[in-house]
Amino acid sequence: MARSLAIALSILAGQAAAHTFIWGVYVNGVDQGTFKGIRIPAYNGAPGKGGYNNSPVKDLSSIDLRCNVLGDIQARDTIKVVPGDNLTFDWHHDWRNDTDDVIDKSHHGPSLIYISPDPPTENSFVKLWHSGKYESNPFPAAGKWSTTSDIAKKFGHMNVRVPKDLKAGHYLIRAEMIALHEGDVSYTVNPRRGAQFYPDCVQIEVTGDGAVELPEGVSFPGAYSHEDPGVVHNVYCSTETKKPLTSTTPCATSYTIPGPTVWSGAWPETTPVSVGPAVGVTTHVPWSTWVVSSVVTSASYRDTKSLTILGSSKYEASWSSAYATPTAVAEGEGRW
Ligand SMILES: *[C@@H]1O[C@H](CO)[C@@H](O)[C@H](O)[C@H]1NC(C)=O
Ligand SMILES: *[C@@H]1O[C@H](CO)[C@@H](O)[C@H](O)[C@H]1NC(C)=O
Repeated sequence: MARSLAIALSILAGQAAAHTFIWGVYVNGVDQGTFKGIRIPAYNGAPGKGGYNNSPVKDLSSIDLRCNVLGDIQARDTIKVVPGDNLTFDWHHDWRNDTDDVIDKSHHGPSLIYISPDPPTENSFVKLWHSGKYESNPFPAAGKWSTTSDIAKKFGHMNVRVPKDLKAGHYLIRAEMIALHEGDVSYTVNPRRGAQFYPDCVQIEVTGDGAVELPEGVSFPGAYSHEDPGVVHNVYCSTETKKPLTSTTPCATSYTIPGPTVWSGAWPETTPVSVGPAVGVTTHVPWSTWVVSSVVTSASYRDTKSLTILGSSKYEASWSSAYATPTAVAEGEGRW
């Protein structure tokens, strides 16, 4: 989409959080190419480089919770699949190879995958898979969580299968990791802390003569609330201590993944498939070098200690209500 991003951008020095997003999509183990079909969130490169970003998203009422910052802007390519195909999303942090840490090792939390017709409408996101805490913790460890003990250990691979007999059409898959290391308190109570959401959307086109339509789902924003037990949760609560040191929340040792239940039409198993080589670049150009003279985020970028708002330019996401075929943009003019 040849969108003109025209408001002046101030590049600000600041501390980068542990961004993680999808760098590639494998279809039945075959890589479709780095960043193909993926709506890349605004990202500011390596720590210390500065710049705005809103990855993670912490405000649950923000449109950025749908597909992250810039998530309304289409990727140039759409990934063609048929029902039953096995998709593997390749999540990374700094670069796309097996030495990348995928997500900071402190970022314990659940992983989730939804599907919606593209473009999304009211209540159109249907949950296909999720995984949360799967081994409890002897204090002071956090136990085993999907993000840090599973996805990160599997080199960033997150698997889902295109639902059986799904009707042909354009869909968005919204995959997500949630980091709860500061989730012992709600973002609304303390905006320095709070759960961190890393959603990312992939454009797919399903072909074939399937007849299954998606049921009613949930909306993003809307599906999560700061009252959800899975959003405000102290990962360090354990059976050995009923009084976690820093938390203001009750100590709950079991964990409830946010959002709705998994749709009965989703495949019950998400068997990992072995994948071939990654195709394409393995490093990322910081967005501040390719979104020239533009503004990116609806979030204000705060100094982490003083909470002073260092910049507050506003990016207004604009989601269209009808599907539009992605158009290529000239190099340097927009995103990938
Ligand atoms: C997807 O994975 C399942 C489980 O391993 C396998 O049975 C199925 O044949 C795979 N589908 C395709 C299209 O390769
Ligand atoms: C992975 O990519 C990084 C960044 O480009 C590079 O420094 C590192 O050598 C690569 N590692 C391997 C095993 O390719």
